[in-house]
Amino acid sequence: MLIGCPKEIKPQEFRVGLTPNAAYEAVAHGHSVIVETQAGDGAGFTDADYIVAGATIADTAAEVFAQADMIVKVKEPQAAECAMLRQGQVLFTYLHLAPDPEQTRDLLASGATCIAYETVTDDRGGLPLLAPMSEVAGRLAPQVGAYALQKANGGRGVLMGGVPGVGPANVVVIGGGVVGTHAARIAAGMGADVTILDRSLARLRYLDDVFGGRFKTSYASAGNTSELVMTADMVIGAVLIPGAAAPKLVSRAQLSTMKPGAVIVDVAIDQGGCFETSHATTHQNPTYEVDGIVHYCVANMPGAVSRTSTIALGNATMPFMLALADKGWAQACEDDPHLLAGLNVHAGRLTNHAVGVALTMDVLSPKLALKI
Ligand SMILES: NC(=O)c1ccc[n+]([C@@H]2O[C@H](COP(=O)([O-])OP(=O)(O)OC[C@H]3O[C@@H](n4cnc5c(N)ncnc54)[C@H](O)[C@@H]3O)[C@@H](O)[C@H]2O)c1
Repeated sequence: MLIGCPKEIKPQEFRVGLTPNAAYEAVAHGHSVIVETQAGDGAGFTDADYIVAGATIADTAAEVFAQADMIVKVKEPQAAECAMLRQGQVLFTYLHLAPDPEQTRDLLASGATCIAYETVTDDRGGLPLLAPMSEVAGRLAPQVGAYALQKANGGRGVLMGGVPGVGPANVVVIGGGVVGTHAARIAAGMGADVTILDRSLARLRYLDDVFGGRFKTSYASAGNTSELVMTADMVIGAVLIPGAAAPKLVSRAQLSTMKPGAVIVDVAIDQGGCFETSHATTHQNPTYEVDGIVHYCVANMPGAVSRTSTIALGNATMPFMLALADKGWAQACEDDPHLLAGLNVHAGRLTNHAVGVALTMDVLSPKLALKI
């Protein structure tokens, strides 16, 4: 199979769909790889790195789209990219079609077979191609929050770890899933006093078993949440209700009960955010202040650490990318129901139930799509 990787064109996207390591593995499996020139620049990979891995370099995205049997990307294809897809070609990338009828229409019109990272599943009911980005965002949250806590950046002027004789920052993490657990680990590692809140007792038990005394756990009742938020130097929002907008767990009125200069890092902002006062920001202008509380609400946090994020995503996508290349998409999906769950569009038909419900469109069962 000829695997193609174009440079990402969505603004502020510095990741790349294929690492040189992934290209090397694909070549070792007997495939060819074509990469658009400078595709890896934003993640610190040069054209020479890809050439050493056995790939060839194309001057334009058009060449990559025209030649490749499978396109491997990071972000959903932009309109110009959708226009270059064709019937029989496989697209393997994040799609997030439910809120995006235009992209859905373009992909249906292309006739291509589109497999979305975010709906690929695993044996434990998880989303293995979303988890690495949650790990990155979770670990980044205390880092950006610590910076915002500095006085010159609008914060309370509190050091995460304190010093001998001065207590550490008080960090509250709402939601103890992938983001929350990684955020709590890093905040605790920086020396902060950390409490995780979650609505799932099973999750709190797990966190207590595995992490013991490294951070505290608390049940996320409204009362506990508001009490802990009042005494926090930093509150990290990390809740998720799959398929729904994030619940608003801290109201504007509660901001006045918080310490002046405290910092909110709302990682759940990509689902609307879990603070009433959150609105999405960008890496150029990541923070703003409401009622004396600093808000950091960047919707694509992993983009700040594009190299780490690219490699983490590449590690997770590689086995699926190789299966698609080795067996062809239909056999690979037939053999692996978790990969089949990633099939969103095939030959002009929508094949993901949740997307169909969100867009009120007819859906062809993915199993039937395998036969077309
Ligand atoms: N901003 C970014 O760049 C970025 C990057 C990655 C992930 N995210 C987002 O971060 C959020 C968390 O993702 P995740 O992978 O950790 O999800 P997850 O499913 O692993 O964890 C979510 C946790 O929230 C808990 N929860 C649900 N409702 C709650 C409530 N009312 N109170 C307390 N806890 C509650 C659940 O029990 C679960 O443990 C998602 O919205 C995800 O899209 C954002």
